[in-house]
Amino acid sequence: MGIRTLLLALTLPLFDLAHAEFHAIRHLSLAPRSQEAVALPPAEFNVAITAKTPRRASKRNALASLRRKPGKRSPGKRPLRLPGGGGSTVVVDGSDFDEEYLTNATVGGQHFSLIIDTGSSDTWVAHKNFNCFDIDGNPVSPQTCAFGTKGFDTAASKTFQLFPNVSFNITYGDGEFLSGPVGFDTVSIGGFSVAKQEIGVPTLTAWEGDGINTGLIGLAFPGLTSVFNTTDPTKASNANQLPYSPLFLSGVAQKKVKNPFFSIALDRGSFDQQENDPFDPNLGFLSFGGIAPVPVTNTAVTVPVEGYSTTTGIPSNAPGSEFFFYTVNVESFTFPGSKGVVTANNNTILDTGTTLNFVPDPVAAAYNAQFKPAAVLDPDFDLFVVECNATVPDFAVVIGGKSFTIDPRDQILPAGTDDNGTIICITGTQPGGPDVPEDIFILGDVFLHNVVSTYNPVAGEITLTERAKY
Ligand SMILES: *[C@@H]1O[C@H](CO)[C@@H](O)[C@H](O)[C@H]1NC(C)=O
Ligand SMILES: *[C@@H]1O[C@H](CO)[C@@H](O)[C@H](O)[C@H]1NC(C)=O
Ligand SMILES: *[C@@H]1O[C@H](CO)[C@@H](O)[C@H](O)[C@H]1NC(C)=O
Ligand SMILES: *[C@@H]1O[C@H](CO)[C@@H](O)[C@H](O)[C@H]1NC(C)=O
Ligand SMILES: *[C@@H]1O[C@H](CO)[C@@H](O)[C@H](O)[C@H]1NC(C)=O
Ligand SMILES: *[C@@H]1O[C@H](CO)[C@@H](O)[C@H](O)[C@H]1NC(C)=O
Ligand SMILES: *[C@@H]1O[C@H](CO)[C@@H](O)[C@H](O)[C@H]1NC(C)=O
Repeated sequence: MGIRTLLLALTLPLFDLAHAEFHAIRHLSLAPRSQEAVALPPAEFNVAITAKTPRRASKRNALASLRRKPGKRSPGKRPLRLPGGGGSTVVVDGSDFDEEYLTNATVGGQHFSLIIDTGSSDTWVAHKNFNCFDIDGNPVSPQTCAFGTKGFDTAASKTFQLFPNVSFNITYGDGEFLSGPVGFDTVSIGGFSVAKQEIGVPTLTAWEGDGINTGLIGLAFPGLTSVFNTTDPTKASNANQLPYSPLFLSGVAQKKVKNPFFSIALDRGSFDQQENDPFDPNLGFLSFGGIAPVPVTNTAVTVPVEGYSTTTGIPSNAPGSEFFFYTVNVESFTFPGSKGVVTANNNTILDTGTTLNFVPDPVAAAYNAQFKPAAVLDPDFDLFVVECNATVPDFAVVIGGKSFTIDPRDQILPAGTDDNGTIICITGTQPGGPDVPEDIFILGDVFLHNVVSTYNPVAGEITLTERAKY
């Protein structure tokens, strides 16, 4: 039925990087296709994304801090576990240069800044009695977790209700983890206000905060939620998972929007802002009920969300498969001089909680070689490092037959300083692991700066609309 069935998955043998030119196509398409975009109403609620977290102090020397965790390559705010899966979930390779996008919200009437994350499903705020740990599990001072507030005072909320005998337990892809009680409370973001939303209120927090956020809004599917039928959070398992309706779907069920869309426009900050500003206001919109209010072009496409087989953990929309992430079928990555077909992976998620793109290793190698001077893979970190003033090769992502170009300004990011205080830059499109079906790849903020992404989790559809140049 869908375009998926017209596609023939191909895996090509390894190729010689020195000689080949690349046009990394995930699937060989039988004919050029394009799909019409659904008409999107303007959103009913638009919330300014008021701040992007700084490159937090702990990340200014991000390369060095990664070096302290050999072998721990880490993606953004994505749960490690794929609940309901057959245990074949593979941890995505990646890096920790996540600069999250934040929005103001209230939970039980208390004000918090929360990370906007399409790569996970739980909404949580740290409990005011949280105990802070480092990501190796050692107790550290509460200041080390660097939350933006003292935490959520459940006793001071008139609307908070504890969910007894269950626990919240999540580990994100970058190694941060949290556990603690679960409850229900009113969560409001701008005019979008959801009553009795199930939330985590972690008391154990291994969190590398930024001094601004106190938690996160998870916008992905119920299957990824992290509440378990056990009073002991260490006993969390797929067997006792209690999936629940995440914030946006609860709002849909409560008829808070006429149309079941939420939409995200993430502005790129300037290079200087990324490097220097502690706080970066007005960086786009999180919108509910329709499309976010930014100028767009006529290039748009609506594609189905890809589900996952619950037995193999591989993308599938066959009966019995389930939605977890906003997974899309990336047909190809194109860049200059490219040709050929190199990747068979169809497991790429749209993730506002991850800064960089993580693409199959062969695609990343081929693209990074095209920078002038070429980006160089740092083997210790598995990241391509590049001159901050390098010439950026064109790069586009083809989805649903439409090509979405990534602005060159998104492809070089400051990532810290070396011992001499010189800024180190990395490229925006990095190796995400071997090209195998179980590996999850990511289109992060580097891609999302160039589109408005509008999600219909009820229909299982995503509309990508190209943004006008800004
Ligand atoms: C967000 O919250 C902060 C702190 O409460 C406040 O200073 C700021 O004005 C708020 N921004 C918006 C757009 O409401
Ligand atoms: C919670 O567990 C306790 C002890 O097992 C039990 O007595 C109580 O009834 C449970 N409460 C609910 C609401 O299930
Ligand atoms: C949790 O498990 C117990 C049995 O172990 C069951 O009686 C109870 O209904 C479950 N709770 C929920 C919320 O599903
Ligand atoms: C979460 O559950 C896992 C088992 O699934 C356990 O190993 C881990 O310790 C738990 N985390 C916390 C913080 O309780
Ligand atoms: C994704 O690829 C796997 C392995 O090639 C295949 O079995 C599956 O049908 C594909 N899923 C979709 C949704 O295209
Ligand atoms: C780029 O920066 C390097 C130093 O990092 C300098 O040697 C080189 O001349 C610069 N190139 C251009 C084109 O500005
Ligand atoms: C720092 O500068 C010194 C002296 O110029 C040089 O030898 C060293 O390699 C530099 N270190 C780095 C990390 O670039």
